[in-house]
Amino acid sequence: MTKTDQFNEFKEHSIAEFFKKNKQMLGFSGKVRSLTTIVHEYVTNSLDAAEEARILPDIQIELNEIDKQSGHYKVKAEDNGSGIPEKLIGKALGQMLAGTKFHRYVQQRGQQGIGAAGVTMYAQITTGKPTKVVSGYRGNIIEALVSIDFKTNKPKVDILSREKGDWHGLIIETEVKDVKYDKSSSGVYEYLKRTAIANPHAQITFIDPDGEVHIFPRSVEIIPPKPKPVKPHPLGLNTNDLLDFAHKDNNKTLNQFLSSTFSRVSANKVKELKELLPHINFKKPPRDLEWQEAEDIINAFKKIRWIAPSIEGIHPIGKEQIRTSMLNMLEPDFLAVVERKPKIYRGGVPFIIEVGLAYGGNSGRKTGGQVSSNIMRFGNRAPLLFDAGGGVIVESVKSIDWKRYDVRDFQNSPITILVNISSVHIPYTGAGKQAISSEPEIKEEIRNAIMEVARKLQIYINGVVKEKEKIHRKKAILRYVHQVASDLSYLSNIDAFEIENLLSKMIEEKYDTKKDEERLKNVISNRG
Ligand SMILES: Nc1ncnc2c1ncn2[C@@H]1O[C@H](COP(=O)(O)OP(=O)(O)OP(=O)(O)O)[C@@H](O)[C@H]1O
Ligand SMILES: [Mg+2]
Repeated sequence: MTKTDQFNEFKEHSIAEFFKKNKQMLGFSGKVRSLTTIVHEYVTNSLDAAEEARILPDIQIELNEIDKQSGHYKVKAEDNGSGIPEKLIGKALGQMLAGTKFHRYVQQRGQQGIGAAGVTMYAQITTGKPTKVVSGYRGNIIEALVSIDFKTNKPKVDILSREKGDWHGLIIETEVKDVKYDKSSSGVYEYLKRTAIANPHAQITFIDPDGEVHIFPRSVEIIPPKPKPVKPHPLGLNTNDLLDFAHKDNNKTLNQFLSSTFSRVSANKVKELKELLPHINFKKPPRDLEWQEAEDIINAFKKIRWIAPSIEGIHPIGKEQIRTSMLNMLEPDFLAVVERKPKIYRGGVPFIIEVGLAYGGNSGRKTGGQVSSNIMRFGNRAPLLFDAGGGVIVESVKSIDWKRYDVRDFQNSPITILVNISSVHIPYTGAGKQAISSEPEIKEEIRNAIMEVARKLQIYINGVVKEKEKIHRKKAILRYVHQVASDLSYLSNIDAFEIENLLSKMIEEKYDTKKDEERLKNVISNRG
């Protein structure tokens, strides 16, 4: 072979071809997981679309098994959101890295512009069929078939009908193979249940492959605040980010560009920058910014004292919402919820941690007669069911010394812990968005939140244990009262009934469990 031959095979590939080969990166690995991934992509899109269009979401997912052997299913997802304009239907569902979210600093469930097209891809490579879409957007109802041209990562759209009508929303029907529905903790049912917990404003209907209808009703009539784009904070940028922003910018000067593009960059801060960087001409157009200059600016950013990033764009689920959801679902004996103050990771990206801890009732996971603790993970209200081991949430829960909080065997306790991370940019470990990377600041915050609820649990557990012991002792002594009274009556000639009454009263006074019961009640009513 001559030297040039090895480059005869040199070719370019599209992102669609890449993900076709590496579909596991998008969550398409394993039959149950693949089906949950499909539902996840559609449901997160529906919730995002409804939030943005200020609509209380009504979402329906229907699964039909066509052939068991090959794992052939039809998946239908319907929402009452904004729908998609005709000219964007193809790009939205048939092109990777296209969408309304990737380029904005906005807290939404979707971030990348890959999810929906990823499902279209999976349908195509397992059944050869395009995905059918009905979109109702601003008076126009369009029915179309969408597929991806893998070579170019361009959509192929076949319009089936165009109608006028008021209905708005999106219906997607797709056929896939190599998937499986089951009711396991990583299946579609569990996924939708958890989605309902973190999104009590959504009404979710699920029709399972047996035709059984499961409804997760809306329990809160409030639409979450509209996701607002936030400006990136100087400490959240690297050199490449800064150059990207600068080269796309139309401001006349670097000066104007810096203060209009990033948050917290006041005239005074620009002055400080100029003093630190006398060699840079801040009057030149941002388009002309060079790599070295950008790197110097990024380094100077680190020397300046900044006001923390704005948290305006971050919306947690809310303490009350979590409390309502967990009480409804788990009917626990004890519940505590905390919402922590916003914090920052990687120097510039704000996030908020919420944690709910339920104990007793239906908390924990029940398998056979055994109960084990259960961790429910969420990123921007979307349940994370896979790759638990690789993520910061499980790592943080496991790092807690539970014995310090009088939980002797955390693994086998009736405990459910809910953790939600809200941010305009959640650092997922992969494109499948199932685990969150272990940023030190995020881990620290999750640990702090858990310790806060664990301290409340400890008070509760102590109350219960002490009260139980006292009641037990009282009962044991009361068992002898009758016999002792009749013996004393025989010796003293006093009426046995009277003695029994007196003895019982003495014991009641000594082991006054009413106070404990009262205290215990207070602990429960103070839960939170
Ligand atoms: N149900 C829907 N209603 C309205 N618009 C939608 C809906 N589903 C998808 N879209 C539009 O299609 C785009 C692409 O969706 P897709 O799921 O591929 O990417 P994304 O949600 O932006 O990011 P991610 O890859 O993280 O899910 C979205 O950004 C949105 O603009
Ligand atoms: Mg999406």
